[in-house]
Amino acid sequence: MNTIAAAVTTAAPEIKAKHAAMWALGDYPAVAREVIPNLGARLVEAVGIAAGERVLDIAAGDGNASLPAAERGASVVASDLTPELLEAGRARAADASLELTWEAADAEALPFADGEFDVAISCVGLMFAPFHAPVASELVRVVRPGGRIGLIAWTPEGFIGEMFRIMKPFAPAPPAGAEPAVLWGSEEHVRGLLGERVALSFAREVVEVRRFGDGAAFRDFFKANYGPTIAAYRGIAAEPGRVAELDAALADLGDRRLEGHVLPFEYLLTTGLVL
Ligand SMILES: C[S@@+](CC[C@H](N)C(=O)[O-])C[C@H]1O[C@@H](n2cnc3c(N)ncnc32)[C@H](O)[C@@H]1O
Repeated sequence: MNTIAAAVTTAAPEIKAKHAAMWALGDYPAVAREVIPNLGARLVEAVGIAAGERVLDIAAGDGNASLPAAERGASVVASDLTPELLEAGRARAADASLELTWEAADAEALPFADGEFDVAISCVGLMFAPFHAPVASELVRVVRPGGRIGLIAWTPEGFIGEMFRIMKPFAPAPPAGAEPAVLWGSEEHVRGLLGERVALSFAREVVEVRRFGDGAAFRDFFKANYGPTIAAYRGIAAEPGRVAELDAALADLGDRRLEGHVLPFEYLLTTGLVL
């Protein structure tokens, strides 16, 4: 079986509640829709999801990957920690006349049976759960032997990796022992987590974001809509000097990385066959 016996750390319930509240800040569906609208479909294509397959999307948000999987005729469970995003996903699915199951679930402790799915996917999703070992074990546990996994994660060197590095000194402290999300964008880290249980393949790819004309436009959009950025600003709201510092650093990031009107966001695409 895929289950491992070792005891693993998962975040405490109050931390999970805080994380869900953070992802409910602003308007994440607007970020998915306006910044990375085709990334979920890219993952679904890379994993080769087919009609009739049982698919779990972990940390699905409002369905960036779940909906394209359902469009292919798969039977999809879209799961996420944040109920507000599941609600937004339900509405999107209804608008598109697609039937999916939307279920609250923590990537560190999935409420699904061993081997229940043919495929498990996560598009810039499970990377944000703080303890990677239980997430990796849960991902493998819920897929049948011979089934597939597919993950997209921002790389440490890419745009979002640098954005998180810039925000770190301003952001609320992570739980003790938490691992940085962007490590899921490092091949070596993913091999260490999954290599003995999954036959892995990797590709580094770039999504070309065409939403922003300059660094300030990127910063203002994320400051208004993206939970982790909003949380960082909330923590320093009483310190105008630090707000100005973060404002300048994020605008500078956008300006440095813009190539014409394109912001390249690099990610690691991991696909694999469960052993
Ligand atoms: C950047 S969003 C990605 C959402 C979606 N997959 C997409 O491509 O747009 C990250 C998602 O991870 C979810 N998340 C964070 N921690 C989680 C956890 N421990 N378990 C499940 N979902 C989690 C958030 O609620 C949020 O929906």
